[in-house]
Amino acid sequence: MRLTIREIFDLPPDGRGVTVKGWVRTKRETKSAVFLEVNDGSRMGNIQCVFDEVGTAKAAAELARVGTGASVCVEGLLLPSPATGQKLEVQASSLSVIGEAPADSYPLQKKAHSMEFLREIAHLRPRTNTFGAVARVRNRMAFAVHQFFQERGFNYVHTPIITTSDAEGAGEMFQVTTLDLAKIAAKGGPVDYSKDFFGKAASLTVSGQLNVETYCQALGRVYTFGPTFRAENSNTTRHLSEFWMIEPEVAFNDIRDNMDLAEDFLKQLARVALSDCAEDLAFFDQRIQNGLVDMLTKMEAAPFARMTYGDAVKELEKKPEAFEFKPYWGCDLQSEHEKFLTEKVVGGPLIVTDYPKEIKAFYMKLNDDGKTVRAMDVLVPRFGEIIGGSEREERLDVLEKRIADLGLDKSVYWWYLDLRRFGTTPHSGFGLGFERLLLYITGMANIRDVIPFPRAPKLADF
Ligand code: 4AD
Ligand code: MG
Repeated sequence: MRLTIREIFDLPPDGRGVTVKGWVRTKRETKSAVFLEVNDGSRMGNIQCVFDEVGTAKAAAELARVGTGASVCVEGLLLPSPATGQKLEVQASSLSVIGEAPADSYPLQKKAHSMEFLREIAHLRPRTNTFGAVARVRNRMAFAVHQFFQERGFNYVHTPIITTSDAEGAGEMFQVTTLDLAKIAAKGGPVDYSKDFFGKAASLTVSGQLNVETYCQALGRVYTFGPTFRAENSNTTRHLSEFWMIEPEVAFNDIRDNMDLAEDFLKQLARVALSDCAEDLAFFDQRIQNGLVDMLTKMEAAPFARMTYGDAVKELEKKPEAFEFKPYWGCDLQSEHEKFLTEKVVGGPLIVTDYPKEIKAFYMKLNDDGKTVRAMDVLVPRFGEIIGGSEREERLDVLEKRIADLGLDKSVYWWYLDLRRFGTTPHSGFGLGFERLLLYITGMANIRDVIPFPRAPKLADF
């Protein structure tokens, strides 16, 4: 196979012949030479291809057709570069233009484009430095997720995407149906879901947790990593309607084991990013978020702060004037609260535990106080919640009562309740939002820019 530019950079610049294929980032002409900066996505940096007078004369016709965005094949000799900041370059002897990119219509010219503009050309934005780097980091992090769990004896479980139960009990599901709703509406309804494809109302899953718990109670250590869907109408820089979630679940783990696992996991991901994505992280540090590398290095080394919800609220109540939404015991923590706690109170990641049961999902284990549950959220500076998890309620009677109190339909959860009927165990797990992780690792400001094709309210183009 042809070498990528990344692989060419690992070769000694000893005058050997090389072939470069990629897309032109810039063309620059001086009196005595033409310079093409070519990128093929294998790394952040381009390779410089220099056409000296002889090379220019030979390739004149093709050089005239080439501009930013064109795909090319360059042949030449690999030599040390006299320019500072690059160790090698190609002394080009031939050029062929594979696909032109006319300068008057190609939208990515050599200048800084806004993130908003790039979102409108999501099919071309991976050709920019920023989105190329995001894609490479995303890829490496996905692999690192599997490495982390596989090295620790976890089994990867494929949980379903189409479901007939609401895993979070929050009613934020996208419906899946093959019924002709317009026809039913024209007739004046009602909708008879027994006639629908699955014989009952079905949706896209909001979480793989309930399904993965069943495998947890057989295999011990398991995880899911898949797409999840939420129909919440949140137009924020932290929410997507379709996002990827990693959900480990461990039999016999209590909330403390769960916190340790979450902390080890995030630290390992940061470590891999720092070591294996150094070139891309240096770019993010310089251009997107100053101090990023330093922040990740510190996070990887220091223990995460831990605090109960009650103590967190006390911290917030000391500074009520700092918030638009006044904090009080029982309130759901807002993102401004989470930012304050991580940035101003502890100066780093923070694990908050023991939330009031009213603001958390039905499956979380009730504490002896009868008021709080064994929940844990991992919060980070800049945007707040990155992980949500808990010890699970393993007592059948308590779980049934929680489901009833919340007005959920117990019959839908019969198989989930069976796990508590037959050989129940304490167990714990959590969910890491993969795009939230990428916001954290890359320093990007908007979650729509760390997934190739974002889905959000009124947004499903491409
Ligand atoms: O806190 P959540 O809702 O927890 C669960 O879904 C549990 N079933 C997880 C578990 O215990 N197995 O979501 C988990 C994480 C959040 O902390 C956040 O990082 C991410 O998923 N998340 C979102 N990311 C992007 N867009 C959204 N709309 C998100 N909602 C949650
Ligand atoms: Mg949550």
